[in-house]
Amino acid sequence: MSLLTPPQKYKISNASQTDIEALAQVHLRCWQTAYRGMIDDTYLDSLNFDNFILRQTKMLEKEGDVHLCIKHSSKVIGFCYGGKLEFYSNQLLTEEQKAKRNEKGEISAMYIHPSYQGKGIGSLLFNSMREELQKYNLSPFLLWVLHDNHKAINFYEKMGGVRVEETAVKIGERYYFEFAYRFIK
Ligand SMILES: CC(C)(COP(=O)(O)OP(=O)(O)OC[C@H]1O[C@@H](n2cnc3c(N)ncnc32)[C@H](O)[C@@H]1OP(=O)(O)O)[C@@H](O)C(=O)NCCC(=O)NCCS
Repeated sequence: MSLLTPPQKYKISNASQTDIEALAQVHLRCWQTAYRGMIDDTYLDSLNFDNFILRQTKMLEKEGDVHLCIKHSSKVIGFCYGGKLEFYSNQLLTEEQKAKRNEKGEISAMYIHPSYQGKGIGSLLFNSMREELQKYNLSPFLLWVLHDNHKAINFYEKMGGVRVEETAVKIGERYYFEFAYRFIK
């Protein structure tokens, strides 16, 4: 490395099976902190590392999806997954609502470890995913965010997202309102 080149502080790469434990740790930690007060405490407290290993395994196995992770000194500090637009069985979307959606792609997960939030890392990762989705012709794209997740809503609006839809999603035994944000590119 030349002395003129600044050290690469954060590195974005494709997440792999070898990262799975670190990804599950970040994922679980984000759920238990960011969603506190939004999602039922009993449900959040029932979540454990094994649940998130399973979730990550399923997500990483999804063929055709883009799985990006961001590392600081080789340590996983966040991840963002995206792919073709999908509707999920735990969402209360009507056929009419589904028919209106003409986005090609979606971001299905976006999480930065709490100790690293608010430092511009989410923006770096989001913009990399944006480029990937464009590369695979998956723009415009959509993502869902909980109604009460004001921090993430601010973030997505800052990244250029426009609110286009709302529904309810079942998490545990309860339903929660969520918004869809659309990104042209
Ligand atoms: C939402 C999230 C991905 C944003 O990543 P981040 O690295 O924290 O965001 P950045 O530092 O890049 O911030 C970019 C912009 O987002 C907004 N933002 C970030 N943190 C914020 C906060 N605490 N309160 C309000 N706005 C905030 C700001 O507009 C900020 O721009 P600014 O720094 O110029 O003011 C991250 O905070 C996170 O993982 N949260 C917990 C999990 C989650 O809710 N994921 C989304 C699921 S849909």
